[in-house]
Amino acid sequence: MTKDLVLMRLLQSNNFISGESISKELGISRAAVNVAVKNLRLDGYEILSTTKRGYKLTGRPDVLRFGELAALLGEERMKTVMVKDSVSSTNDYLRELACNGAPEGQVVLADYQTHGKGRRGREFISPAGSGIYLSILLKPKTLPSDTAEITAWTAVAVQEAIYNITGVSADIKWINDLLCYDKKLCGILTELSVEAESGQIRFVIVGIGINVNNLSSQFPDEIKNVATSLYLECGKKIDRVKLAAELICQMDKLICDWPKGHAYYLEAYRKKCSTPGHNIRIFSGADEELAYAEGIDDNFGLIVRKQDGLRKTINSGEISIRNIQ
Ligand code: BTN
Repeated sequence: MTKDLVLMRLLQSNNFISGESISKELGISRAAVNVAVKNLRLDGYEILSTTKRGYKLTGRPDVLRFGELAALLGEERMKTVMVKDSVSSTNDYLRELACNGAPEGQVVLADYQTHGKGRRGREFISPAGSGIYLSILLKPKTLPSDTAEITAWTAVAVQEAIYNITGVSADIKWINDLLCYDKKLCGILTELSVEAESGQIRFVIVGIGINVNNLSSQFPDEIKNVATSLYLECGKKIDRVKLAAELICQMDKLICDWPKGHAYYLEAYRKKCSTPGHNIRIFSGADEELAYAEGIDDNFGLIVRKQDGLRKTINSGEISIRNIQ
């Protein structure tokens, strides 16, 4: 923890900062500051030191760590942010915390997931050092039927976070995949806990997985042609810490906007959702049907025209736009 606090101070100062002022601000000894700096160097941080002026951070490795995020989000917000090297799934980890009383806004962020979960029981490939795997806890006072709307709002929040940090304007594929030129950049998995008696939502876990600095060789063969990363789209490495911090800010805004921000999220969603205008395949349980996507209704449902010419709106399930004649 001391190492992270020292890192936070070095990151927050654009210039040299003396060992004495770090030790005073953090209430630790000068020797503890020295040890922290030494350990940070071992972790790959480049830190200049001179006897007169103190320390200056000149280079950082691409790592997601507590101190890095704290420098951007502040210590108060970090009270409910956990940064882990590796977990099985950030959604599963957060579920445990939620069952033990974690508050709304609790975040779990990991550098690597051993069993990243995708929708419909699929695996979400989550290699170390390249992606963002983040779950956030919501406690909306709404009915389970509103979850599709939360999921759609999340797509808007993530789209905006990515745009703000990288300039990449991803498309939304209904209901909440983010695509770049038809290749998947980000997946969102929303899981619910509902109280059986009242039918009220106990909590919602929103899990967001973004391919950030992945090389194409990191994608397994079966998804190589359908997956992309921000690195592949921008041609340069992206600062994962900045993106994770912006993602948390956008999700905090979403929590604050719910449900009064409906009109804003709906307009943004309609602008960025590229599904209408395409022939699609709808998967619902074991069933599949072909249809034409016409638009997004006021509740983020997908309005489709079926092959028999009748219209209907789908509010859940999954669609595919590929391989349709
Ligand atoms: C999908 O596209 O099928 C959804 C993928 C969701 C992946 C994220 S990564 C963070 C969170 N933890 C998980 O195990 N899954 C979600």
